[in-house]
Amino acid sequence: MNLQNKIVAIVGGATGIGKATAEVCAAAGATVIVADFNEVEGRAAAAAVGGSFFAINVADEASVAAAFAAMASRFDRLDALIQTAGILRGAFVPLEEFDLAMFESVLDVNLVGSFLCAKHAVPLLKKAGKGVIVLVSSAAAIGGSSSYAYGASKGGVNALGITLANKLAADNIRVNVVMPGNIDTAMKRSVIQAERERLGVGGEQQRLELGAPIGVGRILAWLASDDADYVRGMIQTR
Ligand SMILES: NC(=O)c1ccc[n+]([C@@H]2O[C@H](COP(=O)([O-])OP(=O)(O)OC[C@H]3O[C@@H](n4cnc5c(N)ncnc54)[C@H](O)[C@@H]3O)[C@@H](O)[C@H]2O)c1
Repeated sequence: MNLQNKIVAIVGGATGIGKATAEVCAAAGATVIVADFNEVEGRAAAAAVGGSFFAINVADEASVAAAFAAMASRFDRLDALIQTAGILRGAFVPLEEFDLAMFESVLDVNLVGSFLCAKHAVPLLKKAGKGVIVLVSSAAAIGGSSSYAYGASKGGVNALGITLANKLAADNIRVNVVMPGNIDTAMKRSVIQAERERLGVGGEQQRLELGAPIGVGRILAWLASDDADYVRGMIQTR
């Protein structure tokens, strides 16, 4: 995989899958941008790969617009946006206890955030004459989730990705959606903890064999490369 001369923005790159993706992209020769609302870990993740950090709250359009404007003033273009920022709230919360505010907060980050990042990245991708958007959904989008909000948000990301792919093809922008399985990150460990607290010891989540973030990172980075030029649609990973 070769990402020489590619400028790749990894939103949500401070920790977990995004951070691992930044490492793979940098090792493949990319100029890496890490954007995240976790400034401490985001700056560290960017510095570790010789990249740049930009603060962003993907749920807030003013913040997203400002972050991409700042990228535009530092770099003349973007070759790829990899949008990994996401949250999972409400794991194992029963439907009748599930607050609307919690439901909406998850959609705001996972779905609205993906929409906003795509919207504000596209002008920079167009400057490259050819670009890639990779959205991170989840196997939960098609197999069900521990959280009503999370599953719904990721189903929305899949549909958003299909719509973006169809509409942006004319601009030479390729869009893929990646659906990871069970990966060993802070988010997944919080779900396992919630199951233990809500349902007791020994549940299904606690018995899962978790994959390494870098396994997904390799796929996300590859999708940003020209080697994946002919790849279309949704991809499931471990
Ligand atoms: N870990 C898994 O098993 C798994 C499975 C399927 C999908 N995913 C998806 O992979 C992606 C990465 O998750 P992860 O498992 O690495 O967890 P993680 O919590 O380590 O990473 C999520 C990142 O998103 C950032 N973020 C959260 N809200 C943000 C906001 N409003 N603005 C900007 N940044 C924000 C966090 O600071 C963090 O760096 C998520 O979209 C998640 O839904 C994870």
